[in-house]
Amino acid sequence: MTLSWLLCLSLAVAAGPRGVLSDRPALVNDYGFDQEAYGLHPVQKYRTIDAEVPLLNVIQYEPKCDQSLYTMMAPRGGQTQKPQVTILDPDGHLVWTTHWKGQQLYNLMVQEYRGEKYLTFWAGDDTVGGHGAGKAYMLDKNYNTFRTINAANGRDLDLHDFRLTKDGTALLTVYELYDRNLAELGQDREAPVWDCIIQEVDLDTGEALFEWRAMLTYPLGASFKEVDEGKKMGWDYFHINSVDKDSRGNYLVSSRYMHSLTYINGTTGDVIWILGGKMNMFEDISGGNATSFQLQHDARWSPDEKTITIFDNKVDDWHLQDDGLITRGLRVQVDEKNMTVKLVTEYINPHRFHAKSQGSLQELPNGNVLLGFGDSAAFTEFSHDGVPLCDTHFAPENRYTKSDVESYRVYKYEWHGWPTTKPDAVLALDMTHKWNAYVSWNGATEVRKWVLQGSKGLNDTQEHWDNLDAALKKGFETSFEMKYWYPTYLRLVAKDSRSNILGVSEPLNTLGQK
Ligand SMILES: *[C@@H]1O[C@H](CO)[C@@H](O)[C@H](O)[C@H]1NC(C)=O
Ligand SMILES: *[C@@H]1O[C@H](CO)[C@@H](O)[C@H](O)[C@H]1NC(C)=O
Ligand SMILES: *[C@@H]1O[C@H](CO)[C@@H](O)[C@H](O)[C@H]1NC(C)=O
Ligand SMILES: *[C@@H]1O[C@H](CO)[C@@H](O)[C@H](O)[C@H]1NC(C)=O
Repeated sequence: MTLSWLLCLSLAVAAGPRGVLSDRPALVNDYGFDQEAYGLHPVQKYRTIDAEVPLLNVIQYEPKCDQSLYTMMAPRGGQTQKPQVTILDPDGHLVWTTHWKGQQLYNLMVQEYRGEKYLTFWAGDDTVGGHGAGKAYMLDKNYNTFRTINAANGRDLDLHDFRLTKDGTALLTVYELYDRNLAELGQDREAPVWDCIIQEVDLDTGEALFEWRAMLTYPLGASFKEVDEGKKMGWDYFHINSVDKDSRGNYLVSSRYMHSLTYINGTTGDVIWILGGKMNMFEDISGGNATSFQLQHDARWSPDEKTITIFDNKVDDWHLQDDGLITRGLRVQVDEKNMTVKLVTEYINPHRFHAKSQGSLQELPNGNVLLGFGDSAAFTEFSHDGVPLCDTHFAPENRYTKSDVESYRVYKYEWHGWPTTKPDAVLALDMTHKWNAYVSWNGATEVRKWVLQGSKGLNDTQEHWDNLDAALKKGFETSFEMKYWYPTYLRLVAKDSRSNILGVSEPLNTLGQK
């Protein structure tokens, strides 16, 4: 069986006639994929660039999924070579990928700042004890670094969230270690405890406009995290993992180990309410189903601010085997006058698997809801009212929770990029040992057509480029079969939908390679 799957795969991969993709489209409901038939981390490789990009297995597909958006992730984990941020098109073809000085990468997004769109992500050291110390980056549409953002007041910027606001500020998460007496837990000793801070930072001056810290509100005893689980690195009693700001100017904070959301007055810093956990202030009129979230991530107001969405992990390393607990997306409605909360919608993956760490929930512009399952390498798009529409794996399902391949979040956005690099072109043998010219252009979203041109020489008297062949761009890498009569030099020209030239590769010397 295994052999025939591999055979199918290699047939699909073999380079065919001109213009045929040399990278792999997503697999469709491939049973072998999820049984490790292609290894623990099935990847696409390219001839034109050195990259390792997840091969997708589409388990379920419906046209109602938003096919106009790109998928953004930051694959990492035990089976990955190098952390990377990666953008894939709706068919699973690479759009853009990069490493970042060997650092860990998290939270690739498209965000708006003063009317322009930017790619944003976090890079740094994620081994600080369940959080990070690094920087946030904003790249412009040419993939140039527009801003590098640190936390204010000399603190380390954590990896969990980075949100640009409509006011041109950034919301950040920060962790800070304190020695605390554990008397309130009935233990007569001091222990290092991680406090969590939100900062709203002015991007021009780098100054904090607002700060709120968990320890002033949450007693140690409100935590669900065992003190001893964090002995080495400090007790991560709160674990902030998302911060959001609404049109009223107030903040919404998610705490994994309090199992709670905190709504904070943006003017005074006072807590307005707490939803979930030991300090819950709401009556759950859904019989417990609205407040039962635990170890959750990515709590946001929905775009209309009428509901709150939450990625409800339910489990972690210590509670993986607990009966009946499955990860779900959750939409709840709070009534701040009556202090009641009700469940509006649950988003449950058909395979009902567990995300023991990380995870995301994003409401897409068309109202669909996208869940990224964190340490379980899958993302699932649901209709607004909770019907699973599209389900995609980017590593084998039978290894989920083993942290082989994970992505802190998976989001979908529209993005248009014009790299300042040249297209990457190489001459290489295809699988039938014929020479081909291969071309790709990392990050160039507007290329529709590649034109192969040839010239006898490269100096003033001989340089004259003739069109030899052309192909529509369909995947990341496009190939052209070489003809014996092609001249010595070849180059590849990228054209957009109106036939404007976007870029030209360096010339390739075909001597001995056709
Ligand atoms: C936040 O505090 C301000 C100033 O005290 C107050 O006017 C406002 O009503 C508060 N907002 C909420 C939602 O409590
Ligand atoms: C809570 O959810 C469970 C599982 O979906 C369901 O059986 C139960 O009826 C729900 N309770 C209420 C009060 O809605
Ligand atoms: C709030 O509670 C009151 C009294 O129980 C009830 O009449 C009213 O309908 C409730 N409001 C909402 C929005 O449910
Ligand atoms: C131009 O290049 C060709 C080969 O590519 C070479 O034979 C010729 O001498 C060159 N002419 C000059 C002026 O450099």
